[in-house]
Amino acid sequence: MTHYRLAMLGFGNVGKSLARLLLAKEQEIASERGLTFSVTGIYTSRHGCALDPAGIDLRKALEAASISELSKLPPASDGMDFVRRVPADVLFENSPVNYDSGQPAVDHIRTALSLGMHAVTANKGPVVHAHRILTDLARAQGKKFYFESAVMDGCPIFSLFRETLPAARLLRFRGVLNSTTNMILSRMEAGDSFETAVAYCQEIGIAETDPSGDIDGWDAAVKVTALANVLMDAELKPQQVIREGIRRLGPGEVLEAKSQNKRWKLVCSAERSGRARSHTPVIARVSPELVGPESPLYRAEGTTSIVQFETDVLGQLTILEENPGPHTTAYGCLADFLNAVSL
Ligand SMILES: NC(=O)c1ccc[n+]([C@@H]2O[C@H](COP(=O)([O-])OP(=O)(O)OC[C@H]3O[C@@H](n4cnc5c(N)ncnc54)[C@H](OP(=O)(O)O)[C@@H]3O)[C@@H](O)[C@H]2O)c1
Repeated sequence: MTHYRLAMLGFGNVGKSLARLLLAKEQEIASERGLTFSVTGIYTSRHGCALDPAGIDLRKALEAASISELSKLPPASDGMDFVRRVPADVLFENSPVNYDSGQPAVDHIRTALSLGMHAVTANKGPVVHAHRILTDLARAQGKKFYFESAVMDGCPIFSLFRETLPAARLLRFRGVLNSTTNMILSRMEAGDSFETAVAYCQEIGIAETDPSGDIDGWDAAVKVTALANVLMDAELKPQQVIREGIRRLGPGEVLEAKSQNKRWKLVCSAERSGRARSHTPVIARVSPELVGPESPLYRAEGTTSIVQFETDVLGQLTILEENPGPHTTAYGCLADFLNAVSL
């Protein structure tokens, strides 16, 4: 049996779902993979911090109002202090995304890798702003920086290209990657006003109080950037994505499209030309498009995400993920951990 000590920075929707999944899969992972683990540190910004080299009781952590009561060591003063002090082999970085700079998650991950930990994150910020530098650092350290859940909530995208498609060149992709806007469009097709559809998304917890990051296409632009930078060696910033959100679409446009057997989708795409592996311009775009039943994107209903990849060797490859959520995001983190220590 090999034992791994895990550190969880961020214990919100994703962190807690990951804790539940670790508990549910503990026996199976031990018997099938010869691997055991303990969580030696949990950090939150307002709900305490627990450090215990002997392992924290995850069931108690999930129930505690403040996890500090479970700590055997003085709590960390901030996220960086936590990363420096936690005795761990793997860091799960699941703090909120910072679209502008990726911080402080970039520094958390850089420090963890420098200290000899693997780093796993669902946070898009470090992928968009520092994917190359963190991947190079991980390689130099003989560790892994994996981020499967940063796009499409745990669905295998990055690992698909990394592990199973050697020598495949990604030429372009098209997809529906933002669940809030897709749900708003689906609800308007069912008769909601724009405002009622937004309120519904807030009620079920997929839209923030200020939903403009989704509605104006920023979240989608960040996801396109992450896919293009990692899978196409692009060096894009989200601001370079040609971007239009869904504000100009109301029930009138959506129902008119429906009467013609078409649907409006906020389509995310990127494309490159030329044959050189690097330094090839990548044009990325987020914009509303009318799609008909002949397109796989037509099927993406509500929170479902879909992406169509076109490679030079396989032609079109489409991945559809139905009803993602923190539980699927948590699975992506678990898969990253197991792949990081097994491959
Ligand atoms: N929710 C999903 O299904 C999903 C899907 C894909 C990707 N993601 C990404 O996964 C990450 C976590 O999402 P979530 O839904 O779990 O968020 P969340 O529920 O808001 O939890 C965030 C956690 O990070 C802590 N935190 C806040 N500010 C911090 C800081 N500056 N340094 C360290 N920790 C800090 C919070 O502390 P408190 O508990 O004290 O507030 C909380 O424990 C985000 O980057 C998100 O974009 C989420």
